[in-house]
Amino acid sequence: MELSGATSFITGAAQGIGLGIARALARQGAKLALTDIDDTPLSEAAAELAELTEVAAFHLDVRDRAAYARVAEEAEERLGPVTVLCNNAGLAFPEQPQDMSYELWDLALDINLGGVVNGVQSFLPRMLRHGRPAHIVNTASAAGLIGAGVGPMYTSSKFAVVGLSESLRHQLEAAGHPIRVTVLCPGAVATNIARSSQSLVAAQEGGPELRRAQAGIEQLTPRIDAAVAHFGIPADTFGELVVEAVKADRLYVLSDRAGIDLITARTQAILSAMPEHHPVEVEGEGEGEADLEELRRAVRKS
Ligand SMILES: NC(=O)c1ccc[n+]([C@@H]2O[C@H](COP(=O)([O-])OP(=O)(O)OC[C@H]3O[C@@H](n4cnc5c(N)ncnc54)[C@H](O)[C@@H]3O)[C@@H](O)[C@H]2O)c1
Repeated sequence: MELSGATSFITGAAQGIGLGIARALARQGAKLALTDIDDTPLSEAAAELAELTEVAAFHLDVRDRAAYARVAEEAEERLGPVTVLCNNAGLAFPEQPQDMSYELWDLALDINLGGVVNGVQSFLPRMLRHGRPAHIVNTASAAGLIGAGVGPMYTSSKFAVVGLSESLRHQLEAAGHPIRVTVLCPGAVATNIARSSQSLVAAQEGGPELRRAQAGIEQLTPRIDAAVAHFGIPADTFGELVVEAVKADRLYVLSDRAGIDLITARTQAILSAMPEHHPVEVEGEGEGEADLEELRRAVRKS
């Protein structure tokens, strides 16, 4: 889609991948509604990007649905209808099985999955109403494609974002709406995610499991931070890949080839779990096959 003059709305835009995407969109001439919970880097990002394009910055916690509705309204009043929505805000922390608690599940799922749901619910009805070509970009992770590597809280939130994105893209396309969906599944990107997530975890209040988890996460943070800095590609490079994918209307964006063996092994394990023949005869099998073929065509096209 044409990005010059488009209005974009980015969550978690103050730093890291969100800022990388904002910079790449600004270079294309898109207007930017930048949102985040961290006000100081948010105003620094807004000041930097105002040199390139029209910018509005908003404090927004993606978990707060009422605030989301207000900010969506104000952003459109100031910059025009949003046609590029980047549901990017997120956090990642390394919980151990013995330290899992409801507080941590809620934190991971409410931000990483709930934030994407709230973005879709705030903007999809607006996009459907105005009927312009639009694009929804959801930040998942390579951990949304591979269940080995990081813990179940982050992994389940990101698998859900991949599923939401694939399903929404297919439904919108099948219904003929001019709204596309792209899902980001990066491996390592060099950002402050380890430290910013640790601060969010440290601010949670709860029982002894949570306190044990907080101490464990605090201890691991410097090592994770160093690994992400060492192996990660720059956030600006990833932002450019995102903009290319939006322009080319691709479903997935990956940052590197590091997950190739794990993705291949997982896919092979799933394929080899299929019985060789359908265990029972299904009536109307022909129709089901036609639907499946349509789905395969849509996935191939992306
Ligand atoms: N960095 C990586 O290696 C990597 C890899 C895969 C996926 N991701 C995903 O990319 C996204 C961005 O992460 P990043 O690496 O840029 O991290 P980051 O910490 O640099 O940036 C995340 C931003 O989101 C904001 N944020 C956190 N909770 C929020 C909330 N409730 N409401 C609004 N804003 C909130 C933070 O303040 C921060 O500015 C996340 O969804 C993350 O899971 C990152």
